[in-house]
Amino acid sequence: MKMLLLLLACFPALARADFAWSYKCGQDSVCQRVPLADTNGEYIPLPKCRLACKAGGTLWPFPTGEVRIGSEVVSVNVGDFSIEAARTTRLQEAVAVFKNHFKSFTAPGEAQVKVQFQISDESSDLSLATDESYRLWIQTHNGNSIVVITALTFQGGRHGLETLSQLIQCEDQSCYMSAEVLISDAPKYPWRGVLLDTSRNYFTVPTIKKVIDGLSASKLNTFHWHITDTHSFPFYSKRRPKMTEWGAYSPEQIYTEEDIKDIVHYADVRGVRVLPELDAPAHSGNGYQWGEEEGLGKLAVCVNRDPWEKYCVEPPCGQMNLANPNLYDVVEDIYRDMLDTFTGSAFHIGGDEVNFNCWNTTKEVTDYMDGKNIPRTEEGFMELWNEYQEEALARFKKANGGKLKDMILWTSHMTEPEFLHYLDPSIYTVQYWESSTNKQLPNLVKKGFQVIMSNYDDLYLDCGFGAWVGEGNNWCSPYKGWQKIYMNDPKKYLAAQGVTDPALWSKIVGGETAMWTEQAGDQNAMTKIFPRSYALAERYWSDPATGWFEAEPRLVYFNSVMEKQRGIFGNTLKPEWCVQSQGICKLNKF
Ligand SMILES: *[C@@H]1O[C@H](CO)[C@@H](O)[C@H](O)[C@H]1NC(C)=O
Repeated sequence: MKMLLLLLACFPALARADFAWSYKCGQDSVCQRVPLADTNGEYIPLPKCRLACKAGGTLWPFPTGEVRIGSEVVSVNVGDFSIEAARTTRLQEAVAVFKNHFKSFTAPGEAQVKVQFQISDESSDLSLATDESYRLWIQTHNGNSIVVITALTFQGGRHGLETLSQLIQCEDQSCYMSAEVLISDAPKYPWRGVLLDTSRNYFTVPTIKKVIDGLSASKLNTFHWHITDTHSFPFYSKRRPKMTEWGAYSPEQIYTEEDIKDIVHYADVRGVRVLPELDAPAHSGNGYQWGEEEGLGKLAVCVNRDPWEKYCVEPPCGQMNLANPNLYDVVEDIYRDMLDTFTGSAFHIGGDEVNFNCWNTTKEVTDYMDGKNIPRTEEGFMELWNEYQEEALARFKKANGGKLKDMILWTSHMTEPEFLHYLDPSIYTVQYWESSTNKQLPNLVKKGFQVIMSNYDDLYLDCGFGAWVGEGNNWCSPYKGWQKIYMNDPKKYLAAQGVTDPALWSKIVGGETAMWTEQAGDQNAMTKIFPRSYALAERYWSDPATGWFEAEPRLVYFNSVMEKQRGIFGNTLKPEWCVQSQGICKLNKF
């Protein structure tokens, strides 16, 4: 017995008790599970194999610049890293987040690691113009590793730290780090995000933070918060508290000012902006019913009207009452409250799915139109809608001290070629949710609009489930697999519609997956959002020229690390056998 203990103490890394397998770098530079005898009886952990087997095999998204990673791997203890030159509390917090990822791995490391930052502007804002590039350099000499992260902005430096965390892989108590690294990296598109709808179903603050964790880990930079809709109004407005009194699902299902400030700060130190959306003038109903009892008249019409099919796209209905001038004071106050809490450089002003029949069957609205000699034709209703659009924009500007932000608007009837003249491309960036083959796409870029891709045929995460207002499949079925999202290349879609000029391609500023939540809730949305949004992250960071198949081993591994190490439980992609032993779990044609 004593003999055995002595042996184990002398050769702690030799084999793993009760495990007959080890890992070895195999064909196509992917790790495979092999009997211990194949590694001379030495147990090589999968994370260590992953780091050594292929340069960048643990990175997601893959860097766009130089990638030089040696195969030498050293064991490290992240808790012992000495981290220098984090001047602001913002960067210190980002460092604490980084260290926290590794807090359960406490085995001593063989290398002493010093991390240095060279960041020009630690207070940088995140906008479409922000430079998110960074350079990461690791060199190891006589058991001392020096890590240098160089960036122009906080966001770039934080991305460098995220890449560093991907070059440190752990198992049991131990972590391993690539010893010789030079990476220079920058995103191909400035806007990379995920939309979460918290109106159809309510999401708790911890769940929202988990979503932001997943964005941050994959260098997505935008959490698009679709915080209100017809179903519920959980955004607490301190100027108009009646909105949540009438609009929240319950007094508990509300986002208070503190909740939002907490989330905005949480996102900021993780390199993520929070984009608020007040959807309007459609998608507004529950929450607006208090106007009459306060003497302001009806703020919304068709609210919860039935049969809904005639007045809106899904139950319950509701649309703003454009005949009521008091509406604009309420909208302005909601803007003011949103501007107090959401401090980012962009704002989403809504704009989708306006239903003319709702207004056309509401006497107050038709009387208003008659009074202004607006005909009750399609053109007339467009004129009415545009009245809202212009006044809402003016109120936003007023609420924001005379300045606009990057204003974002959904594609709609108004962004179709015949009505696009209502919108100014120097003001609006259009979020494109039509199908990839719709004629609006080439027209928008030709007319000078910046475009964010959320084409539903690739990027809607709610598709492919059973219907919720009937039977069979839901409207945008089938399910969009990660492969389809990975291949969502806007250049390809523009070229297919005859736009081959790279100057027009550059009007596409990025993409967002969209988690509409009619059929997703707090306990299950994560599996719909991830890992598919990781696929979007690589599409819009790296803009890979290769197909999804080349990316698959990295994504499968990255997803498993996100689960095991960060508790981000996305949908499972493969049997674990295939994660451990890659190269076989595929059709032969690939
Ligand atoms: C509005 O209703 C009127 C009268 O019912 C009808 O003639 C008109 O076509 C409708 N307008 C639209 C745009 O549907």
